[in-house]
Amino acid sequence: MKGVILAGGTGTRLAPLTTVINKHLLPVYNKPMIWYPLECLARSGIEEVLLVTGGNNAGDFIRLLRDGKQFGLKSLQYAYQDGAGGIAQALGLAEEFADGDPIALVLGDNILERTIEDVIQDYHEQPSGAKILLSPVENPQAYGVAEIENGQLIRIVEKPTDPKSNLAVIGIYLYDASVFEIVKTLKPSDRGELEITDVNNAYLSQGKLTYAVLDGWWADAGEDIDFYLASCNRVAKSGANLPPMK
Ligand code: DAU
Repeated sequence: MKGVILAGGTGTRLAPLTTVINKHLLPVYNKPMIWYPLECLARSGIEEVLLVTGGNNAGDFIRLLRDGKQFGLKSLQYAYQDGAGGIAQALGLAEEFADGDPIALVLGDNILERTIEDVIQDYHEQPSGAKILLSPVENPQAYGVAEIENGQLIRIVEKPTDPKSNLAVIGIYLYDASVFEIVKTLKPSDRGELEITDVNNAYLSQGKLTYAVLDGWWADAGEDIDFYLASCNRVAKSGANLPPMK
């Protein structure tokens, strides 16, 4: 499995912090935000990663992360997203990199306490399709929200005004190579973006989407300034308790 990390977008919810700096380069306690998802993938056994970014700071990511060897990666590649047409648009740029292999897609503002090694192992036991991770939150309106009946995932709704559960779909997704065909069928949402929730619902309608509830804490550091501060404090207090590099 290969890894894809998204670090594009506009970061407007953290303005003015993000007026001249890409959100994923902001510090989260003692490391830049992007460090956490990259470390998480590397420590989960992933060796090849593509980082997708955009805007004016693309070169800064190369200066910071270089060839990925400091994370124990075999290779770290970069792709440029022109504009901010959505998470699924950025994912679409990874098609050549994936080259038919399954991928772990990670949003660059998501910080996890633990690795996803077990989730990847479970994913390899399913014949094809996708797997998402859920985590209970106090403000489900801010996320993709999973509706579950009798243990069955029924649908995912992006930022619902009237959420049917408190289970957020976190920003880590495992996909087979058919994800790129799904991306090509998407239409922009009302906010003008190609939505990752539409990708997940496409897998769901094919009966090829599984889910697990995440072990350990998770933070979306880019949600707004209060979540950003809470993420910094959480990392400072408990640390991202990841095992040593392989
Ligand atoms: O954090 C989990 C949530 O992430 C999910 O529950 C939602 O379903 C999903 O849509 C997403 O919601 P956000 O509103 O938090 O997404 P945001 O716009 O903050 O983008 C998430 C990451 O994706 C961010 O780190 C930057 C990257 N991104 C975003 C866009 C719109 C790109 O690389 N390119 C883009 O065009």
